[in-house]
Amino acid sequence: MQVVRTVEALRTARKELRGSVGFVPTMGALHKGHLSLIQRAKAENEHLIVSIFVNPTQFLQGEDLDAYPRKELADTTICLRAGVDILFMPSIDEMYERDELSIGAPAIRGYILEGEKRPGHFDGMLQIVMKLLNLSRATRAYFGKKDAQQLALVTQMVKNYFMDVEIVPCEIVRDERGLALSSRNSYLSEAGKTKALCLSKSLKEATRLIRQNELNVTTIKSSMHIVLQEAERVEYIAIVDQEFRPLSSIERGNTMILVAVWIEKTRLIDNLWL
Ligand code: PAF
Repeated sequence: MQVVRTVEALRTARKELRGSVGFVPTMGALHKGHLSLIQRAKAENEHLIVSIFVNPTQFLQGEDLDAYPRKELADTTICLRAGVDILFMPSIDEMYERDELSIGAPAIRGYILEGEKRPGHFDGMLQIVMKLLNLSRATRAYFGKKDAQQLALVTQMVKNYFMDVEIVPCEIVRDERGLALSSRNSYLSEAGKTKALCLSKSLKEATRLIRQNELNVTTIKSSMHIVLQEAERVEYIAIVDQEFRPLSSIERGNTMILVAVWIEKTRLIDNLWL
């Protein structure tokens, strides 16, 4: 595995790769969720590039940029064991210059739900993903469904900018109790982790109701709210179609249920695709 820290070194290493290239962009603190993306990318491509970069432009003022977990040594070992060919770990200066051209998230889909609660987050996310996709020149890039809006917006960017890469959506990975894996789970105490199960429990409650043929969105949201009472604060429960348009009634095969809550001082999201 080559560990490269500069754009120039990445370009040189990338030139050596012939055949299909899978790419997994991450912010590090790798967990089993990342590993599942890495393993899938490894299985579906001849070569594999992983990036680790805590991207400052996607953090809002007052968010956890400085506190974000950084585990370079452990992450490098995980990548080495997983058969990564190139691990790209650039500095901020390597990725950005002053007074940059920026990319704007779309006015509607980029400014609802996560985009509404974290205005500007998606601009920064798209900006770095564009840079990383251009540098990796990947055949396929792998994104988790947990960040459903991120996945949708990256897919849209690739379409709108005619970029030559396939975006591969990957299933959410959960721990044995149902908590969706996230680097931010490490901020939670044990009691917090137990409380955080209310996210997946609320989605299970929605599934239970839908199985019983309850398709009314208001009714489903009310039941989910009861389960989410464990959280310090519920930011949103959204039931939307795959274009992120609010639904009044569940459409099987075309519905996403998304939740965002605060547990202790940590903001957590989860979702379910029906
Ligand atoms: O999902 C993440 O970890 C980040 O948003 C990404 C895609 C690596 C861009 O910084």
